[in-house]
Amino acid sequence: MKILILNGPNLNLLGRREPLIYGNLTFDQFFESLKKKYADVELHYFQSNVEGEIINKLHEVGFGFDGIILNAGAYTHTSIAIGDAIKGIETPVIEVHISNVYAREEFRHVSYIAPNAKGIIAGFGLQSYELALESFI
Ligand code: DQA
Repeated sequence: MKILILNGPNLNLLGRREPLIYGNLTFDQFFESLKKKYADVELHYFQSNVEGEIINKLHEVGFGFDGIILNAGAYTHTSIAIGDAIKGIETPVIEVHISNVYAREEFRHVSYIAPNAKGIIAGFGLQSYELALESFI
């Protein structure tokens, strides 16, 4: 099974960025433990701060992989283009968030990903990614 974890803007700063909201672990540390725990899954990881690169990656894997776990960061709340890309590919996408976006500012309550996603997982810290992975398995 081939799964891509796709992280959007500012998620390269995990571990340093607003640790009270996003925790102290870097994504690389978390990803290493995930790969060990799910050794039989072909797990891939890509992060970009650039909207077009996220769209390109969705196009690249969206007809061959079994699942995409997408944390589009702030683009979740703004990007019609990422929403359209998800609509245009075949691979199911699960929207994830580290924080509970619905308990935060109102602008975070809007998602252009959700209408085209298989499901949404938010608010469980980095475990949100693992729950999404479990749902694909
Ligand atoms: C986030 C929530 C977004 O609102 C925010 O812009 C992020 C991270 C999360 O994982 O909780 O960058 O997607």
